Amino acid sequence: MYKVAILGCGGHGKGHIWAKVPDCQVVAVCDLVEQRARDRAAVYGVPYYLDADEMFEKEEIDIVDAPVREKDRFEVVMKCLQYGKHVYTEKPLGGEEGQLKIKPGDLPKVRAMMDEWQKHDVQLGICFCLHGTNNIRWVKQQIRTGDYGSVAAVSARAFSGTWPHLVEMFRYLGGEVDEVFGQADEGWRSRSATVRFASGAVGNLMTSGPMGPGYQIKWIGQQGELQVDNSNGTARGRLKSGDERALPDELARWAMLTQHMTDFVESIKEHRPFVADGWAGLRQMEIDAAINESIMTGEPIKVERYKPEQGRTVFTE
Ligand SMILES: NC(=O)c1ccc[n+]([C@@H]2O[C@H](COP(=O)([O-])OP(=O)(O)OC[C@H]3O[C@@H](n4cnc5c(N)ncnc54)[C@H](O)[C@@H]3O)[C@@H](O)[C@H]2O)c1
Repeated sequence: MYKVAILGCGGHGKGHIWAKVPDCQVVAVCDLVEQRARDRAAVYGVPYYLDADEMFEKEEIDIVDAPVREKDRFEVVMKCLQYGKHVYTEKPLGGEEGQLKIKPGDLPKVRAMMDEWQKHDVQLGICFCLHGTNNIRWVKQQIRTGDYGSVAAVSARAFSGTWPHLVEMFRYLGGEVDEVFGQADEGWRSRSATVRFASGAVGNLMTSGPMGPGYQIKWIGQQGELQVDNSNGTARGRLKSGDERALPDELARWAMLTQHMTDFVESIKEHRPFVADGWAGLRQMEIDAAINESIMTGEPIKVERYKPEQGRTVFTE
């Protein structure tokens, strides 16, 4: 049984239902705001703390779920890593101005986080919960069959709040990104970027404030194409041979967050990489920062990957 502590008892963390994750038990909670800590402690029937150091000194903890805001992420994640804990935190991994305004200046702290993580034999997981959807998983399996050939182009769009997720899915399905050119409207409610992948393939991604909730991703290969619609939706493939495939209905149930958290815990158990690990979190920030730099300068921007040999998780191939 893994002992889980919740560090940050705000709004979003309520959606992380550890009771549904096998072999996990919440043993303590912590928040700077006493009422929040006390309320969450009552939900689990566990002690609460206002100071993380005190909690780490007094409690036996394996995993820390730290759904704090991006501006607090560095301090909190570094502390958990230094105590040698597995960490599950929110996306994106940094961002002084919030998750929709990632800047190149946000990257040094995230890179320092990777260096700290690498010193400890622990897992660092990011809540890119779309990795827990059945349709994204199915599309990735389909790509891996090789039946659709190598990637030629990827197109993705979503409503604006989904931007960090969209960037991560784009990389996960398309591969590492080498260069971007971004544009945005006033206030960046709508954003668009054209992209060149390291493989030579191209793509575009777009988010828009007025667009309703949901997203679409189209993956085009030399021998066929795949499409994903929405986190609780469908996925289908069409091969040049005329063969058509679709995500089987019985797999299309929406339980993405629990599935994602369960996969995180299994990666710890099995001592294997996690699909949304620290490197995924860093790469998403590097692409995002480059797009935003391009928007601000009006120039195409090369994506600088820190420790590129490390960041090429097996999942991007
Ligand atoms: N994965 C998703 O789809 C998704 C969806 C919504 C929000 N989010 C992300 O979730 C994150 C959290 O958002 P939220 O709305 O829950 O924020 P919030 O402000 O409601 O909660 C954060 C809590 O962390 C606490 N905290 C901060 N530093 C602390 C410390 N050092 N020790 C103890 N407690 C500390 C704060 O007091 C606060 O209660 C954001 O980064 C947001 O982007 C992700």
